[in-house]
Amino acid sequence: MTEKLVTIFGGSGFIGRYLVRHLAQKGWRVRVAVRDVQKAAFLKPAGNVGQISLFPASVTDAASVAAAVHGADAVVNLVGVLFERGQRTFDAIHVEGATTVAKAAVAAGVKRLVQMSALGADPQSPSAYARSRDAGEMAVRGIFPGVTIFRPSVVFGTEDGFFNRFGRMAQLSPAIAFFTNSNPHTPAGGGSKFQPVYVGDVVEAIAQSLEGEGHSGKIYELAGPRVYDMREIMNIVNRETQRKRMVWGVPYVIADIAAIFLQFLPTPLLTPDQVKLLKLGSVATGRRPGLAVFGITPTTLEVVVPTYLKRFRPLQQNKRIRAEAR
Ligand SMILES: NC(=O)c1ccc[n+]([C@@H]2O[C@H](COP(=O)([O-])OP(=O)(O)OC[C@H]3O[C@@H](n4cnc5c(N)ncnc54)[C@H](OP(=O)(O)O)[C@@H]3O)[C@@H](O)[C@H]2O)c1
Repeated sequence: MTEKLVTIFGGSGFIGRYLVRHLAQKGWRVRVAVRDVQKAAFLKPAGNVGQISLFPASVTDAASVAAAVHGADAVVNLVGVLFERGQRTFDAIHVEGATTVAKAAVAAGVKRLVQMSALGADPQSPSAYARSRDAGEMAVRGIFPGVTIFRPSVVFGTEDGFFNRFGRMAQLSPAIAFFTNSNPHTPAGGGSKFQPVYVGDVVEAIAQSLEGEGHSGKIYELAGPRVYDMREIMNIVNRETQRKRMVWGVPYVIADIAAIFLQFLPTPLLTPDQVKLLKLGSVATGRRPGLAVFGITPTTLEVVVPTYLKRFRPLQQNKRIRAEAR
């Protein structure tokens, strides 16, 4: 086994768990820096005995970050938040937190640093999330010029927050809605556009970027093979959950109003800033290199998404499948 050690911040999250497993399979020793070590214990069986260790750290605590990166050859920062709560602001996590990780990486003599960002990172964006992503990138590049930055579109995979949310909606509600600013009965009325990328492709790109200097100082856009509008995505969800729900195009003004109230839920269903992000969609600009540089053929969502949206199908489906199997 190689002696190389990587510290991953955010390793207990959706993308993180795939990255931990993938890097362990490639022979890395993996130190997962998490706020709650017990909650992340499920990660340990992803490697051989002793290959994956859990380390208590928060990107808001510089001393814990310094300890977490001590002795590491590489560091990956996946930490991100989709809504703000108290001191957990976009700036505190995406800018100050990322800065803390980059400074600690420099101080520890780390060779490779990966910073996760997002498509749409832009100082002029109407979304505070997207502006903070840009500011985070700039700050980290100023401290660790060789950092590799990844900007994914919406990421899909078994535990994703995107398709699972719509699958749950199809399970519970008589209609599934998408937001649009045009007439939903016209081809142009399908709502915002997304280019979903498979989590397995994302972690393979990150893993390759940790090897050697070839990806040093680069910014990559990670996107899937096809652009979908929201109506197409809802139709896929409808088909794969076998719920036959009405797919309903709703004006964005409804989202604007709903978000004013929904933002106050303990885990907000929708915030005003998320509505701004939704309106922008998430499609690669093509101005940055992408998965092709890594020799990765992007996985289509039609291959993967049905495997986990199945769980939202009506119960009778399972009974029928069991009956057929007898
Ligand atoms: N998933 C997507 O579609 C997508 C698309 C574009 C960009 N991204 C970006 O990719 C990154 C990973 O996404 P994800 O979907 O895997 O997110 P996720 O499931 O929400 O995971 C986020 C991780 O960050 C950790 N974290 C939060 N605050 C922290 C803190 N103060 N200190 C240390 N760790 C902290 C969380 O750990 P706890 O268990 O301690 O909360 C969790 O492990 C994020 O930066 C996200 O914005 C994701």
